[in-house]
Amino acid sequence: MYVCNCFGVTEAQVRKHAEAGACTPRQIASACKAGTDCGSCVRRIQALLGRGACRTEVADQAQPALSGVSELDEAA
Ligand code: FES
Repeated sequence: MYVCNCFGVTEAQVRKHAEAGACTPRQIASACKAGTDCGSCVRRIQALLGRGACRTEVADQAQPALSGVSELDEAA
């Protein structure tokens, strides 16, 4: 199913870019131009990203938090 009709970008393509690290509509636009013409698809892209399509952001946030905890343990 197409998410962006202007550039023929599908939901699957948006998910793929999200899994590769594009976590905002702007980053999706950089990857495949979706949302950069009429803009009517931006809300659909946001909805896809909001449903957990972007996985790397969560993983990136978890690592510093965990390393910070181990540093505290070493200091104590
Ligand atoms: S439908 Fe995506 S920019 Fe127009």
